[in-house]
Amino acid sequence: MPSNFQEVLRRELEAGLRELEARNRLRALSEIRGVNLCSNDYLELSRHPALKDAVLRAVRKTQRVGGTGSRLLSGHATVWEKLEEEFAQFAGTEAALYFGSGYTANLSLLTALLKKEDLVFSDALNHASLIDGIRLSGARKIIYAHLDLNGLEAGLRNHALERCRKLIVTESVFSMEGDVAPVTEIFALAERYGAGVIVDEAHATGVHGPTGRGIAVKDGIVQHLAAAVHTCGKALASAGAFVCGSAILKEHLINHARPFIFSTAMPPYMAEQIGAALRISQTMDGEREKLLGLAKRLAAGLRSHGWDTGRSTTQIVPVMLGEDEQAVSAAKFLQSKGYAVRAVRPPTVPQGSARLRFSVTCGIADDEIVDLENCMNLWRKEACPTVAVARA
Ligand SMILES: Cc1ncc(COP(=O)(O)O)c(C=O)c1O
Repeated sequence: MPSNFQEVLRRELEAGLRELEARNRLRALSEIRGVNLCSNDYLELSRHPALKDAVLRAVRKTQRVGGTGSRLLSGHATVWEKLEEEFAQFAGTEAALYFGSGYTANLSLLTALLKKEDLVFSDALNHASLIDGIRLSGARKIIYAHLDLNGLEAGLRNHALERCRKLIVTESVFSMEGDVAPVTEIFALAERYGAGVIVDEAHATGVHGPTGRGIAVKDGIVQHLAAAVHTCGKALASAGAFVCGSAILKEHLINHARPFIFSTAMPPYMAEQIGAALRISQTMDGEREKLLGLAKRLAAGLRSHGWDTGRSTTQIVPVMLGEDEQAVSAAKFLQSKGYAVRAVRPPTVPQGSARLRFSVTCGIADDEIVDLENCMNLWRKEACPTVAVARA
């Protein structure tokens, strides 16, 4: 017999979920099927035979396959230290510290650096992990419109006389827009107003910059950042993330980042996997070029048919549809045609900007790109003739 509490809770949760369903916002888990356009495995490294072999070798030779404790207790291993040195070199920084996920890396970094009296300037479309890190830090926040440097400067100017720590936080490649932050200009503003800059390179790691080292390396400003965050679960086909910056920042995080201190370490073979993925990915210039070429072709093709792909210039190509039900309808239609596509709805994206998010991977065939465009047009004609398309 369920207790009173359990029964009331069940009814309330059920009502909440049915209300989400009525608004086309209910999410459910399903395995993807068909041509994969919703994966962050941009270089298709997750299926690379050399990476699989490296994992098998690592598991065979390791003494333990468990994390066994936090890095400050029993979970540390020399392979992590070596990998962090290697990753810092790749990222162009003095040091790097590994976290079990990009979410906790961002949460850790922001909560360990910001106090209540500090000020953080955050792009309006930053990822939830950055937003949550800022919230949890309790720091005062100024949200500037997406990529709006005038808005950012106005905010910095308004607070120019305040003597507190100021940090500008931005993604480099935006995860839902596929556009790129002007990190050089952002850094110039930061310098003028005495602020630091944190760049989340999650969707640039392995894909953008020389040998996939990120936008901040490409633009030559990485050594001036407060920190860059690189994730390993996307193009590097592994898991976790590195906060890359100075050696003193690393020491500070080891001592103050609560998710680092109070989480069990990842098992040592994961360090071998990430190291192997990092080395293989650096040899994949051909795949990077192919990937960005395919994405460019897809965005241009969609735009030529009147679809609004926003300001995307990367492997992430959104198609803005506005209302949730249109995004859901388009996703279902494409799924029925053999494409693994998901509708992206609020709160992941702002209200009224529901969309499809095509994340291109380097193994997609040219004719699949053409067919995808045709399917989008077919959906507009057959399934949703009333859909408004913003830009021609
Ligand atoms: C911009 C950005 N930062 C951080 C993360 C979190 O990384 P992880 O999936 O490793 O937790 C994501 C994940 O989607 C992301 O898109």
